[in-house]
Amino acid sequence: MKNILIIGSTGQIGSELAMHLRSLYGNEHVVAGYITGAEPKGELLESGPSAIADVVNAQSIADAVKKYNIDTIYNLAALLSVVAESKPRLAWKIGIDGLWNILEIAHENKCAVFTPSSIGSFGVDTPHDMTPQDTVQRPRTIYGVSKVTTELLSDWFFHKYGVDTRSVRFPGIISYVTPPGGGTTDYAVDIYYYAVRGERFTCPIKAGTRMDMMYMPDALHAAQMLMEADPTRLKHRNGFNIAAMSFDPEMIYKAIKAHKPEFEMVYDVDPLKQSIAESWPDMMDDTCARQEWDWEHKFGLEDMTTDMLDKLTKKLL
Ligand code: SER
Repeated sequence: MKNILIIGSTGQIGSELAMHLRSLYGNEHVVAGYITGAEPKGELLESGPSAIADVVNAQSIADAVKKYNIDTIYNLAALLSVVAESKPRLAWKIGIDGLWNILEIAHENKCAVFTPSSIGSFGVDTPHDMTPQDTVQRPRTIYGVSKVTTELLSDWFFHKYGVDTRSVRFPGIISYVTPPGGGTTDYAVDIYYYAVRGERFTCPIKAGTRMDMMYMPDALHAAQMLMEADPTRLKHRNGFNIAAMSFDPEMIYKAIKAHKPEFEMVYDVDPLKQSIAESWPDMMDDTCARQEWDWEHKFGLEDMTTDMLDKLTKKLL
């Protein structure tokens, strides 16, 4: 990897991935792609190049790829699960029409492409406990439908044209930097903000509903590791199950309470979020990622909680 374009560099994952990759490959080698209205600011803007790279405007992607001699694209443009349900056509336009644009440009310019898939690519018919790498994927959310399509389309471009496409199925991602917007797993980020501000948290997900989650440093490491992986070892490409921790609202609440005994949580279950959460795995089996590219997570619930509370306290108070 020499020159990288991040599409969606001001979003939840993109903003941190851009800085992570700049620290590894050099600031000048990582271009922060953005859309009008979501321009990079602060450190992201000042530390390296940025360019308009709008997935629905293929020319803007082609221009950025040529101008910066890009060989690797991280495509992080997407609507999260809850917001996608209310804007399904936009979710498809960004997730699938946008991906098609990127894959064609990648083919013409010999770029490798990383496009995340998600726990959302599974559905109610999928085995929920230790969800296998290769299993039933019949999601009923438009987010999930577009993620399964992402996996298939990325595989098709690899088999048909040799485009080096790779992806992981991200769990819910937790971070103290850029908040997520409109996801089912967002509660596991929001809860830390409430705890640090000393406010009572109202949880939209029922006690006992487990989902896979991951701390941002592990998610960034996974994306970068997979793109560096030896292609001859990859039996799968799009997308690998990766797991780090699995918890329900009571477990994260208890982990926070161990640091903040006065913290309170009540429930007001959101029916849409709950039905989506129940259709997703309780915990994925990530053996293939561990075998094929040595995936390893670092953070569990306790370490993450200690770090989140510490970093958010510095940020908010
Ligand atoms: N975090 C995403 C969501 O909740 C799942 O990948 O929509």
